[in-house]
Amino acid sequence: MRLGSATAILVSSFVVGVTVPSDAAGQTPTFTRDVAPILYKNCSQCHRPNEVAPMPLMTYEQVRPWARSIKSKVLKREMPPWGVGQSSLHFSNDRRMSDQEVATIVAWVDGGAPMGKLADMPPAPEYPGGWKFNRAPDVVLRMPVEFQIEPRSEYPMLDFYVPIPWTDGMKLIQMSEARPSNKAVVHHITVSLVTFPPGTEVIDGQPFTTDASGKKVPLDRRTARITEQKLPSDMQIPREPGEKPDRLSSVGGFTTLLAYVAGRGFDGHPDGVGTPALPGQYINFNMHYTPTGRPEVDRSELGLWFAKEPLRKFHFRTPINERQHVNGKLVRGSIPDAADVEAGRVSQGATPTTISSFSGLPPIPPYMADYTVTSELAITQDITINGFYPHMHVRGKVAEYRVAYPDGREQLLFEVPRYRFDWQERYVLSEPLKIPKGSTLKYRAVFDNSANNPLNPNPDKEVYWSEQSWDEMSLGWIEYTLDKQRLQKR
Ligand code: HEC
Repeated sequence: MRLGSATAILVSSFVVGVTVPSDAAGQTPTFTRDVAPILYKNCSQCHRPNEVAPMPLMTYEQVRPWARSIKSKVLKREMPPWGVGQSSLHFSNDRRMSDQEVATIVAWVDGGAPMGKLADMPPAPEYPGGWKFNRAPDVVLRMPVEFQIEPRSEYPMLDFYVPIPWTDGMKLIQMSEARPSNKAVVHHITVSLVTFPPGTEVIDGQPFTTDASGKKVPLDRRTARITEQKLPSDMQIPREPGEKPDRLSSVGGFTTLLAYVAGRGFDGHPDGVGTPALPGQYINFNMHYTPTGRPEVDRSELGLWFAKEPLRKFHFRTPINERQHVNGKLVRGSIPDAADVEAGRVSQGATPTTISSFSGLPPIPPYMADYTVTSELAITQDITINGFYPHMHVRGKVAEYRVAYPDGREQLLFEVPRYRFDWQERYVLSEPLKIPKGSTLKYRAVFDNSANNPLNPNPDKEVYWSEQSWDEMSLGWIEYTLDKQRLQKR
């Protein structure tokens, strides 16, 4: 009932209101004049051919059969999807429509969903080559082989490596998008930058090294992960004398660029900010395929957009996971106190162990509805946060970010009250958020292993921690830049 009266108010304010022409024919909004511009702006990025949504909503013929369903979804604010609940921040990718836009759609449906004059139809939005950003990528890389997916039960994660194709020095990757060629089988893609040890040979996308007896043997992937990347000297992170790279400021040899899951798979950073990538490095496509029961092939691709001059800063990301409590009990980790931070004695460097350290958490008991992991990260440098990416699997229910400032003030950043594994979101800030050295970032993740969770395949199982989607993960990522870094003066 509440919904009904809200509609009435919205509709009447619309009818009395601003945009409705006074002639009788204009009383009901038309598709071509009033509704198409709203759908193009708010829906077309997903509701177009070959995109994530089940049906395109580009033409009158495509939209008309869905009119009632569209009215209901926009009134309930289920479409466009948007996960943030309480928040003290604003997001540039906030998809919520204005009340006015919702009212226009509702009035159009209630008025019989007329088409209107063809001449009123706006030009369709352009997505060059189907890419999410409105210009073609600077570089497109494809997986080195077309991979055949047999109709068997499951596949392990598979790695393919492609060399960086440019030769003219370091570039900052400001935006990237990963696209499967066969959406039906690609469960997810993680794209990373890797530096191999000297002497590595890559054949058909697989790295080999030479063992003591001179025989070619496959290279262990972990070796590739931890090799330090060599930055040009003028690109090094500025440090005080004696200061060591720490958790927040080290440039690892294995840098994740982005992750593709249904609905996601493109990342962008502010102007002049990006992930440094050098000739000699490799792009790693880490592929998770889910067979369909038929033989399938896939050759996924990656579009890269470079930051333009003036280059400003490196893009960094890290999960909040130095110190963790489960259901209020400390399970792991030490966090440096203020004196340690002041003295530059900080605990950990960014290594693969810290990245995957969610695996140190105790398993989630069967049927437990509110398994809560709270994690903290000491901020040892002045940083500026540009975005967040909370990641859990099917038992993930709630995610929340907070900050405690050095003066003790604590602030809710935002919460995602109904996290959905099948609808993961990266939350990009419209105003970057400065976090001073000496603060602590806090991330709370709640998991529901009960039978009330509709996505839970086995509530009677104890749930372990790993990258497989039937296990769990608890990663509250932040994306940030270092305030002290300045690559070029204007
Ligand atoms: C970010 C991507 C995205 C955007 C933007 C988006 N949708 Fe959707 N929409 C989806 C996906 C995915 C589904 C199917 C899964 C689901 O229902 O969650 C869906 C489902 C729907 C459905 C239900 C289809 C069914 O099978 O019942 C309707 C209606 C709908 N969308 C309308 C809209 C309208 C209208 C807009 C814009 C005002 C919009 N959507 C914007 C992704 C999107």
